[in-house]
Amino acid sequence: MTKQLQDIFKGFSKLSREERLKALKEVGALNEAEADYLAKGGLKDTSLGEKFIENVIGYFQLPLGVVTNMRVDGKDFVVPMAVEETSIVAACSKTAKWIRESGSITTEVVGNEIIGQIQLAKIRSFADFEKQILSQKNYLIEAANREVAFGLVRRGGGVRDLQVRRVPRGDGTDMAVIHILMDPCDAMGANIINQVCEYLKEPIEQFTGEKVTMCILSNLVDSKVTRAVVRIDDIDPELAEKIEEASLFAQMDPYRAATNNKGVLNGIDPILIATGNDWRAVEAGIHAYACRDGQYRSITRWYREGKSLVGVFEAPLVVGTVGGVTTLHPTAMLSMKMLDTKSANELSRIVAAVGLVQNLGALKALTTVGIIEGHMKLHTKNLALGAGAEEKEIPMVQKKLEEILAIRKRISLSNAVDVLKELRAAQKTPASTTQHHS
Ligand code: MEV
Repeated sequence: MTKQLQDIFKGFSKLSREERLKALKEVGALNEAEADYLAKGGLKDTSLGEKFIENVIGYFQLPLGVVTNMRVDGKDFVVPMAVEETSIVAACSKTAKWIRESGSITTEVVGNEIIGQIQLAKIRSFADFEKQILSQKNYLIEAANREVAFGLVRRGGGVRDLQVRRVPRGDGTDMAVIHILMDPCDAMGANIINQVCEYLKEPIEQFTGEKVTMCILSNLVDSKVTRAVVRIDDIDPELAEKIEEASLFAQMDPYRAATNNKGVLNGIDPILIATGNDWRAVEAGIHAYACRDGQYRSITRWYREGKSLVGVFEAPLVVGTVGGVTTLHPTAMLSMKMLDTKSANELSRIVAAVGLVQNLGALKALTTVGIIEGHMKLHTKNLALGAGAEEKEIPMVQKKLEEILAIRKRISLSNAVDVLKELRAAQKTPASTTQHHS
């Protein structure tokens, strides 16, 4: 690549769609065919959809954008986002620029294993059951690796551990839950861990004489969490304090925590969708991890450290770069190419970083200009469209809505409908009548 990413990202938002695609080609993020595919509207052939789900009748298209200025662990990335909400991409890119100029983003993945659960709802004695299972632990792990997870073992992963957990049934007795811990390498690992658990059902029943009730992976993967840390140096102390206060609010109050975490997921979900990853699984894991001490809390934390502001995101964020939709859907493949990563851990680290950056952007806006200015202003176009404005009417409706916004501090679809009505009425009024009245 002769041109660097930071060169094409200067003024990227001001370019036309064709110019953006051209710029991405210049840095090798896209080739001619890929840019052409996007320019022509992406996937059209519904036969691929038939492979994914049932009763297919078409595709639901979401806009695909790219976040600019994202530098994670000293490396620049083109981050694809498939999302419908106005201002997410813009806010993330703007905040990423701020961090790039005044700080850093560092990330890591702590732990390697995902979790599969085998439930035995009713057992005679938990202590006896635990003893029997633990005495066969090595056999069960080896059998699972030999018979089911052999492909992962070849790639350096596979089943690593087995644990027995006692879970109260609420009536004074216990159920037994076996946890299977497995390194899925660069796959998300859902199918394989489920296969492992189902394969182990028979030997477990044979060894113990107990009955397995069900087998399924857990989305609360606290055995493999992704951490991202944002540091901004020499920040305005007043701003830093406000962001710290906003963060405390989200730590202590579940009502605020939910909205804060929604803002973090504004950064996370669009990348998962663009890369064909299971965003419901990640959402479930993040929310469960957010209430691991019994209270639902913010998944991010911001605090002052000397003259710096530091933010931390830590949560399970299991993604894959091989298997599933990621390697079947052409737009997901193209998104993966733009991201230029083959490693699931690196993808998870980028996603965590973007979630944290998105959160910072929201907290900065909320504690300074407020959400309306940054969010709703950009929303005026959507309102104009929602009211039924035609292309040539949109700028005039937007201008009027911005005037209303400046005075009343809020705007709604009904404002847009009224503005459009007035505009059309004024355009219909003959010039002579207007002159007569004036
Ligand atoms: C809106 O999509 C997201 C925010 O509500 C997040 C937040 O409140 O932190 C702005």
